[in-house]
Amino acid sequence: MCQAVAAMPTDWMCTSTSQYIDIHGELHDYEKVLSFFETIEDEFDVLKYCSGANAAGRWIFQVYSREFIRELADIVNEALRTLGNSKPVLEVMGGDGRLSEFLKTQVSSEIICTDSRQGEYDIAYPKWVLKMNALESVEEFGPSVVIMSWEPFFSTVGGEIVDSCVPTVWIGDRNHCAVHSEMFDKPHIKMNSEFALGRKDSFGSREFNTDIYLFNWPSAIDG
Ligand SMILES: C[S@@+](CC[C@H](N)C(=O)[O-])C[C@H]1O[C@@H](n2cnc3c(N)ncnc32)[C@H](O)[C@@H]1O
Repeated sequence: MCQAVAAMPTDWMCTSTSQYIDIHGELHDYEKVLSFFETIEDEFDVLKYCSGANAAGRWIFQVYSREFIRELADIVNEALRTLGNSKPVLEVMGGDGRLSEFLKTQVSSEIICTDSRQGEYDIAYPKWVLKMNALESVEEFGPSVVIMSWEPFFSTVGGEIVDSCVPTVWIGDRNHCAVHSEMFDKPHIKMNSEFALGRKDSFGSREFNTDIYLFNWPSAIDG
């Protein structure tokens, strides 16, 4: 619940029923998202907020902002231009599909979103997020680009997708996602994103550990 403490949180952060808003209900500017999470960190608890204690009961792993989505869309669109194919973009392990929903208005190809619904999380999976294993969906759709955000802690599936040579965008925190995967031994580009924020980050002290990583990336292959 929002606490009525002097100077914080500000009105827009809470609903009329005194719950913290769903920060993924719509896209907000990066600075606004940052100040929201500083408040959550000071006044509540970031992990609880990101594990459903918010107005929508939403689970949040990567935290989106207008700038982050723009950055990601630019990366994907540039790859699509270089590849020159019209195959869909595929988001695997897509969870509640919010990333695909935000991206689809800004990416020049169709985006398909799948998730196997492992059941470890209380994620509200919409019907349009196809219930499908990540490797099977790569095989089924033959995508131009695969996007994967917050691969689970013990997963090694991302590495298998990278081994299939498809251009892959991996988003997450290397201390908390796919920690035993050998995929980072393979060539990749770390984007040092200015706008990547995650549920395990420290907002007040600005210690941000999430990033965007590119594998089998066309610009890198073409030199
Ligand atoms: C940590 S959640 C991240 C969800 C979403 N990407 C996000 O950032 O909100 C990991 C998701 O991966 C899914 N998942 C785990 N292993 C999978 C697999 N082998 N194939 C497809 N989905 C998988 C789980 O069902 C879960 O929804």
